[in-house]
Amino acid sequence: MPIRMLPETLVNRIAAGEVVERPAAAVKELVENAIDAGATRIDVVVRDGGKSLITIADDGCGMTPDELALAVERHATSKLPSDDLLDIRSLGFRGEALPSIGAVSRLTITSRPRGADSAWSLLVDAGSKGTPQPAALAQGTRVEVRDLFAAVPARLKFLKAARTEFEHISDCIERLAMAHPGVAFTLADDARSALRLSAAQGDLLDARLSRLGALMGRDFQDNAVPVQAAREAVTLAGWIGLPTLHRPTARHQHLFVNGRPVRDKLMVGAVRAAYADFLPRDRHPMLALFLDLDPQEVDVNVHPAKAEVRFRDQGLVRGLIVGALKHALAEAGHRASTTVGLATLGALRPEPEEPGTQPASPLPYRNPVQSWGGSYGSSVPRGLADRAAAFQAPLPPLQGRLAGWQAAPAARPPEYAPPTASAPPLDAHPLGAARAQVHNTYIVAQTTEGIVIVDQHAAHERLVYERMKAALLDGGVKRQALLIPEVVELDEPSANRLLTRAAELAELGLVVEGFGPGCVMVREVPALLGQSDVKSLVRDLAEELAELGDALSLKERLEDVCGTMACHGSVRAGRTLGIEEMNALLRQMEATPHSGQCNHGRPTYVELKLADIEKLFGRR
Ligand SMILES: Nc1ncnc2c1ncn2[C@@H]1O[C@H](COP(=O)(O)OP(=O)(O)O)[C@@H](O)[C@H]1O
Ligand SMILES: [Mg+2]
Repeated sequence: MPIRMLPETLVNRIAAGEVVERPAAAVKELVENAIDAGATRIDVVVRDGGKSLITIADDGCGMTPDELALAVERHATSKLPSDDLLDIRSLGFRGEALPSIGAVSRLTITSRPRGADSAWSLLVDAGSKGTPQPAALAQGTRVEVRDLFAAVPARLKFLKAARTEFEHISDCIERLAMAHPGVAFTLADDARSALRLSAAQGDLLDARLSRLGALMGRDFQDNAVPVQAAREAVTLAGWIGLPTLHRPTARHQHLFVNGRPVRDKLMVGAVRAAYADFLPRDRHPMLALFLDLDPQEVDVNVHPAKAEVRFRDQGLVRGLIVGALKHALAEAGHRASTTVGLATLGALRPEPEEPGTQPASPLPYRNPVQSWGGSYGSSVPRGLADRAAAFQAPLPPLQGRLAGWQAAPAARPPEYAPPTASAPPLDAHPLGAARAQVHNTYIVAQTTEGIVIVDQHAAHERLVYERMKAALLDGGVKRQALLIPEVVELDEPSANRLLTRAAELAELGLVVEGFGPGCVMVREVPALLGQSDVKSLVRDLAEELAELGDALSLKERLEDVCGTMACHGSVRAGRTLGIEEMNALLRQMEATPHSGQCNHGRPTYVELKLADIEKLFGRR
């Protein structure tokens, strides 16, 4: 067979296969064009999930008839003025979208540049290009794509149901809308409007939060903490959810590089690393992060749909993300998400009876702890969540609220002092004044606005972990010598395992020595455990070590080790606590970063506002 040059329509159709694999991809390209054109509002209407019709209208700079004719040519772009592929400041640059879409649909572009006295329109029908005709349009550009893929039946066959294609379109507009909060967007499906976003006001950080709230939900808006950091010429900004607001998939993680939504392994990995301490492996935080850097520092030309990027200095980007996220989460201190209290209320509140159904059991109590496995949202009755959202204001930053109250230094419980005349009353603290302990497991505290219930064991486990981490960074965990060294009998392999790790254990505050075959002698224990049952602590640790194997250092498995140690500390579940001990625990929680959730992403406390409680009893 002879070699030949392919005709241009075929070349465009092949290229279209990469650029527009489905209606959402065409929408993405066209919305990006509108953003690049400086639009302040973009209206999208689709029919049949975009298969029979897509229209996109913008109020951007528009095109003259000559520009129109050029725009639909392959590799024609206004966005590379200096021919420098390493200096891309727009979303587009490949000059491929319009010719590709025109090759596989009936494409009509109508446009009127700012200040021009008339509009022009151009039709490209399955690759054959017409000439610009006078048309009517007030301002900007209106692009209409009819019968996408009608000329490519093979591609048409691979499209999904209209509803699925519509979801893809909506996802793609949402992502672009997150990155451009100053632009108003609407999306309508023939009959109904699916998305209506007005231009967000305020400085960029606030504008982003309100745009994100509109797209990711009120829960996110109420439970997100801001991130703002820079290293060299790279800046990172955005909003990240508290660890207690987790989800089963990473679908709610939105990453952007220079205003472009991306999927990027490096960034995803950095996010995972930053949350690793607070979430189990199979749960994912909600967040939106915007990375901005000099175009020279990132290659965006590595993917036909521009969804992937490559950073020149990967270490810098990773370090920036991990550091900034950890810092932001530490600033959030002991805050647990407001959804925790709501989920609890949802579980407590009798469900409204549907007329005609059997009356529900008198107290449809669901164990709130068990429901953490699922998404919180699902366990919260809608009406309640909405109503409660109105007054569930997020806690102000911890630092401010604790001002005047000296945080206890790590590894030393604060001395409890009865309130003096000048000290604020205990219940003015975020976690309030302890009032009672119930079932030897939960502390009930009164705050000015309601009550707080603390899972003493989960809280203590978290405190031990955070303090050990801090102490390790600060030259080792403080130890407390036992008056009489304790001899613990084990089996030989267990004793040996402990003794080979003796140096590491000493760093964690536990000093063991050999004491004949199968026995160890414990001389010192971590001070922060308080009075603990040394024998069972050592036995459990030996078991923990057997499970760990020798591959990892104890520091790498600190979470597990601390969990085991905390189980034997003075505050474990089932231990009776005095009021002073309880208050000391609450104050420690307030002073400890990340104490709002235990090592497995479960909350360590829930807060019920008085107004919520009143609602439960029908007082409101
Ligand atoms: N909505 C629009 N408003 C103004 N100009 C547009 C619009 N859409 C496309 N253009 C012009 O057409 C050119 C080609 O668009 P496209 O094929 O998407 O390639 P690219 O965006 O990569 O430049 C753009 O560079 C731009 O100059
Ligand atoms: Mg483009």
